[in-house]
Amino acid sequence: MTVPPPVIAPSILAADFARLAEEVRAVESAADWLHVDVMDNHFVPNLTIGLPVVQSLRAATSIPFDVHLMISDPRRWAPGYADAGAYNVTFHAEACDDPVALAKELRSAGAKAGLAIDRDTPIEPYLDLLPSFDTLLIMTIKAGFGGQRFLPELLDKVRAARRHAATGHLELRIEVDGGIAADTIEQAAEAGADAFVAGTAVYGAADPAEAVRRLRALAEGSMRPA
Ligand code: DX5
Ligand code: ZN
Repeated sequence: MTVPPPVIAPSILAADFARLAEEVRAVESAADWLHVDVMDNHFVPNLTIGLPVVQSLRAATSIPFDVHLMISDPRRWAPGYADAGAYNVTFHAEACDDPVALAKELRSAGAKAGLAIDRDTPIEPYLDLLPSFDTLLIMTIKAGFGGQRFLPELLDKVRAARRHAATGHLELRIEVDGGIAADTIEQAAEAGADAFVAGTAVYGAADPAEAVRRLRALAEGSMRPA
C-alpha cells in the first residue's frame, strides 16, 4: 500500500495580518496549502477575514488555498470562495443542513469540497456523506482561536474516519486542525491524518519555512499505509 505524501498547511491566523502577502511568501516554497481561517463572529466568537481579503491574497501568491469557513451561513458564502480560486473550501457540518448539496456546488465551481467536524460533534452521522467530499477536517481543538492546546482524545474521530475511508476505498484527505506542532503531529499522523494545519507552530517560529519542513519530516515518519 502506498502512503500519499503529507500535506502541510500553515494557518495565516497566526501570521502578521499587516504583512499578509510577505507572510505567505515566507512559507510558499515549503508548504503545500495555505490554510485560511474565515470566522464570522457568529458561528464562532472570533472575527477574521472574508472574501475581499482572500481575493486580494489569491492574486499575490500561487500556493493553493485551503479555506476553512467557520461561518453560520456557508450555503450563501462558500461558493464565492471557490469562484475566487480557492483550491479547497471546507465548511462546518454544524452550520449546514444539506452538506452534500453544498459539496456538489463547490465541486461544480471547480474547488475541492471539505467537511469540518468541531470538537463536540461526533463523526458517525457524517461517515456516509464522505464520498461527496475530498477533504474531512477534524478539529483537534474547539474551533475559533489559534494557540490552543491539542486534544488527543479527538484523534479517535480520525481513526474512525480513516477506517471508513479505507473500507470504502475513498480518496479522502483527512486533515487535523488545532494545536498541531512538533510534539503532536506524529500522533495525528499515526491516527490516520494526512493533512496538517499549523498556525502557531509555523508563524511563531523564527524560520517559518524551516518549521514547515520539520513538521513534514515528522509526519512522513509516522504516516501509515491506509
Ligand atoms: C482555529 C483555526 C485553526 C488555527 C490553528 O479555529 O481553525 O486553523 O489557526 O492554530 P494553531 O495551530 O495555533 O492551533
Ligand atoms: Zn482552521
